[in-house]
Amino acid sequence: MALTSATQRLVAQFEYTDENVNIGVKEFLRQIDEGLHKSGTSMSQIPTYVTAVPNGTEKGLYLAVDLGGTNLRVCSVRLNGDNTFSLTYNKSPIPKLLMVAKSSQELFKFIAEHIAVFIKEHHYDHYEHHIRRRETMSSPEGFRDEHIFRLGFTFSFPVQQVGINKGFLIRWTKGFDIPDAIGKDVCALLQEEIDRLHLPVKVAALVNDTVGTLMARSYTSPGKTGALLGAIFGTGTNGAYIEKLSNIKKDMEGEYDTSTGEMVINTEWGSFDNQLNVLPTTTYDIKLDQESVNPGIQMFEKRVSGMFLGEILRIVLVSLLQDESIPLFHDDNSSHNDWKSTTSIAAQSGMFKKWGLDSAIMSVAALDNTPDLGTLRLELDSQLDVYSPSLEDAHAFKAIAAAIARRAARLSAVAVGAIVLQSGKLTDPAFAGEPIDVGVDGSLVEHYPHFRTMMYEALKAIDGIGEAGAERIRIGIAKDGSGVGAALIALVAASMEKKRPTTIEWLAQMRSEASLKTLKEVDSAVEQEAEETAA
Ligand code: GLC
Repeated sequence: MALTSATQRLVAQFEYTDENVNIGVKEFLRQIDEGLHKSGTSMSQIPTYVTAVPNGTEKGLYLAVDLGGTNLRVCSVRLNGDNTFSLTYNKSPIPKLLMVAKSSQELFKFIAEHIAVFIKEHHYDHYEHHIRRRETMSSPEGFRDEHIFRLGFTFSFPVQQVGINKGFLIRWTKGFDIPDAIGKDVCALLQEEIDRLHLPVKVAALVNDTVGTLMARSYTSPGKTGALLGAIFGTGTNGAYIEKLSNIKKDMEGEYDTSTGEMVINTEWGSFDNQLNVLPTTTYDIKLDQESVNPGIQMFEKRVSGMFLGEILRIVLVSLLQDESIPLFHDDNSSHNDWKSTTSIAAQSGMFKKWGLDSAIMSVAALDNTPDLGTLRLELDSQLDVYSPSLEDAHAFKAIAAAIARRAARLSAVAVGAIVLQSGKLTDPAFAGEPIDVGVDGSLVEHYPHFRTMMYEALKAIDGIGEAGAERIRIGIAKDGSGVGAALIALVAASMEKKRPTTIEWLAQMRSEASLKTLKEVDSAVEQEAEETAA
């Protein structure tokens, strides 16, 4: 009984009502607007300089690197030009040590090394060709060739972008903390390490994963208009959407094309309402934040994304375990549970370690609807060293996990709903009856059961959207968005490299890339050209 009533009390604390949803949307819209007017706001509203979305006819072979929160993916993407693509990739977990290393060089070196492995494994022809070229030093015409891969770099952290392949890191998120990278151009940091390995790769475009998702969704889902929003609900959460240029009031340093009258904005909504004007806040949220590497920042993300949900649950459960009057994960004797055994939790259980409860078990809990919750109980045993968990334990775990996830889904709807309202598409006669397309990606939205259904329930409750509006919002998975989207932006970047280098420029570029051996050859080529010019 004590456990049941404690569970009910906790579940109630995570309730996020329709009224809360509406209050959240109003504040979200206010903070969207604030971020369009000035810099330094909690939601950064970063202009991306991407002014159009693809229509599916784009073609070519590009390389993409996706540095997410958990994994590094290196992929090559062949855009087939008919709304389809073919993708090859290698995926490796990012070592925890590199996330908090002293110098970011270690992280970028790790990425470059993985690019090298990938190219040798999947595109040996390019690699070999490049090596041959470096040894033989052919002509400028030859140097500017297709054998240099254009790479789209999906870097899923807040970056002040000043051009298509240039952007300065604003802050780390998702547990990364490498101070020396702040304020640096992350493309240059990567290019440096790529050059150190003499790889035939040029970092051509810098892309946030949400922007990539938006691009990929527009490429793959044919429609009268492209997608409105690309959003990630994974380790972290964020969204990029299409905004009218006329609404962007703050200064933009870089050059951009004004012909579409629009620009993709990376909202960095993970930091929506850092000031906690409206976000729901329990004592468990406060504890999580205080113990994080970035207290006071990414407050929305800390209530929504996969990295944090397991940790919130762990903190809640630990508070129950500390209360001796509540029989969670322990029995006094074997008659107290349905397995006629004694439940206990091992001292080394992940439950007692920061980040020790992987959010994935919340999906297992939500999926297990069997009368004895057998699958969840097995998982509690194998993942969290709970020996012989009782049915009551499993019920409590399931209910609390569901409440935390449901709050996350409804908060996600606040973000999506606000962006839909901001676009004005629901009331614009030009879009009457048209679906409003939202591409989503990330482990949470993909694997947590009914995450989208819970989002839709909340969307229906939003003033100005309602049932009819929610029906027009088409939230679809944009798998591989960050890879395909990065390739698409690398394509745009490649088409912008219109200007052919002069021989001198070519040689200078070659010099910066060449090894000591070839430098001598470059020098003699420069001399020769100087002599020829003089003659
Ligand atoms: C974090 C990052 C953001 C990224 C998101 C999803 O919120 O700050 O840039 O898009 O995670 O990966």
